[in-house]
Amino acid sequence: MRLDKFLVACGVGSRSQVKTMIKKKQVTVNGKLEMSSKLQINEYEDKIICQGRELLYEKYLYYLLNKPQGVISATEDNHHKTVLDLLDQAARDKEVFPVGRLDIDTHGLLLLTNNGALAHAMLSPKKHVNKTYRANIAGLMTDQDVQLFEEGIALEGITCQPAQLVILERDEEAGTSLVQITIKEGKFHQVKRMVAACGKKVLDLQRLSMGPLILDKELALGQWRRLTESELASLQVFDVEL
Ligand code: URA
Repeated sequence: MRLDKFLVACGVGSRSQVKTMIKKKQVTVNGKLEMSSKLQINEYEDKIICQGRELLYEKYLYYLLNKPQGVISATEDNHHKTVLDLLDQAARDKEVFPVGRLDIDTHGLLLLTNNGALAHAMLSPKKHVNKTYRANIAGLMTDQDVQLFEEGIALEGITCQPAQLVILERDEEAGTSLVQITIKEGKFHQVKRMVAACGKKVLDLQRLSMGPLILDKELALGQWRRLTESELASLQVFDVEL
């Protein structure tokens, strides 16, 4: 792999930034100052130090994104901006993809990775991974709706697994509710369809968590960061190579 590509893949900076670092004599390869971006290196064996820090090649990348509305959960699209367009070049080079989908008008937590085994495990219906959403609803949600969610709502031929509905606020004058919903599945438009089955409509939907991962309040809409060591450790429950 080329040295500049390796540095970008390690998240050190953009292609032009890492070229500048190399020119400024901030990069050594196996103890030798390296001035050529084009140098072919062995990413697993060579010792690369950039600005005094040794870089280790990461096979898998993990991104926590606060997905904004208007962006689709896909890797490419002819009409819309995708979540991949919001990430860095390393994510695109390493073919990172979203773990599951959020609708175009849903915002909040989205995990992206190139670890297929992890994605498969987190999306497997057998693993019952909790997904928690906050929703603004047109209509007043009731205790009867809470009961319906608990029993498992029927949607066109399928019955959803029991889900949790917590009513946070009810504005009787405006006729709206703020609720928190936790589901264990990921059926198409599931939350919107469950709310519709109660005769109400989702006005705004935000995902707060997925399994052990929680939306980082420091991330503005459209911002991302790599997973922390402890978040990564929390994914060990899925029993796959991380
Ligand atoms: N349920 C929905 O209806 N939409 C989403 O984006 C996620 C869950």
